[in-house]
Amino acid sequence: MSLWGGRFSKGLDPAFDSFNRSLPFDRRMWREDLEGSRAWARALEAAGVLKKTERTRIEKALRKLQKELEADPGALERSGSEDIHSFVEAALIRECGDLGKKLHTGRSRNDQVATDLRLWLRSRVLLLDGSLEELQRAFTRLALREAGTLLPGFTHLQKAQVLTVGHYALAYVEMLARDRERLAQASKRAERCPLGSGALAGTGFPIDRRALARDLGFDAPTRNSLDAVSDRDFVAELLFVASLSAAHLARFSEDWIFYASAEAGYLELGDEVTTGSSLMPQKKNPDSLELIRGKGGRILGKLCGFLATLRSLPLAYNKDLQEDKEALFETLDQWQACLEVSRLVVDSARFHRERLEESSRRGYLNATDLADYLVQEGVPFRQAHDLTGRLVRLGISRKKELQELSLEEMREVSSRIGPEVYDFLDPHRALARRSALGAANPRLVLREARRWAKALQIPSGGSREKQKNKKRSKG
Ligand code: ARG
Repeated sequence: MSLWGGRFSKGLDPAFDSFNRSLPFDRRMWREDLEGSRAWARALEAAGVLKKTERTRIEKALRKLQKELEADPGALERSGSEDIHSFVEAALIRECGDLGKKLHTGRSRNDQVATDLRLWLRSRVLLLDGSLEELQRAFTRLALREAGTLLPGFTHLQKAQVLTVGHYALAYVEMLARDRERLAQASKRAERCPLGSGALAGTGFPIDRRALARDLGFDAPTRNSLDAVSDRDFVAELLFVASLSAAHLARFSEDWIFYASAEAGYLELGDEVTTGSSLMPQKKNPDSLELIRGKGGRILGKLCGFLATLRSLPLAYNKDLQEDKEALFETLDQWQACLEVSRLVVDSARFHRERLEESSRRGYLNATDLADYLVQEGVPFRQAHDLTGRLVRLGISRKKELQELSLEEMREVSSRIGPEVYDFLDPHRALARRSALGAANPRLVLREARRWAKALQIPSGGSREKQKNKKRSKG
């Protein structure tokens, strides 16, 4: 049964019917459509449109439908309704007869769908925030385990300065914290209730929209009916929040795919997140990370696609807006899956400390420390930079690292250099000297990791390793 047959003498072409229908995807919002409909019935009663007995019968019927769908959600799939709103209305009319036909008084699917989608977001945002937090926890546990483990740091993918694995892990904890903030802010802005805006010009009945907004748990009603039914800013914002977070995950994937390569050999991923080759028996491929990186492209595509749709729409509602839901649902699904798999990957990784130590000592990552040493000896930095550059060139020509040059060799370049220089060239000492807030010093990293552990409520000293060891020693 369609909601709008009166004006038409002939039905839809089957090809257009399936093209037009949104039930196959908007059925996800069935609980929200029922919730919004119950609140609308109460608002109609308060406005004197429905009698109390009518409203209670409608509410009862909607609750009954909820139970039926809870028990058999397949009923949605089997129905040929146009969308979730038509489905619910048809079911209500089946249950209550003519009374059911009163519910849509003063309401349009335009304000209805805008409301349903905002309601639907609420529970989804909680799940996403939970997955972001779980990933933060995994990175924090890694930081606690490997606070002092050396890690070569790169800029331009050229060896730059030494870091620690813990410092690297906490960089992602920071990024994820901003992702969570953005998610909270974007979803907070969606907490305005469009219901009662009608099709575009406002409802024709004296609805108390403030009370209605409160009833549905919104912060406030929207203030312009035309804007309320056309506004999908919140969808675009969430697609952006997801795209940026997915970009963070793609960068992490990119790093770790390299870290797991034979050339780097910094870490090994767990069997549970890698796959083999059908032909090459030796392979252990980081498919999990490649898919996270790949899906980030798809998520970004949804943002671009939806903005392209939105920007060309005249006010007010146009059917193009139905495209918002597939974009949003798919994006949030994929983002959440990426977060969950990222968490598995982080928990599965074993860092090769010896290899990291060795790699951190090769490739002149300590050149800046040598320049800093010269500065301490009174050489102006620009000159110290130049002298160090010469020493690096000398090292390259003699196939030696800076710390492998003898004092005599170094003095060929600068007589200011004394034996204490070797202390400056040691990566652990170099890290320990970095004392300013935010530096990769293991002591600071550990403090920072513990601060995060507390904020994220990870059991104190809480690396899994330690917990496992405890269990082992008990057993
Ligand atoms: N299925 C539609 C959507 O998702 C509901 C709104 C339909 N409104 C209309 N005037 N055709 O946007």
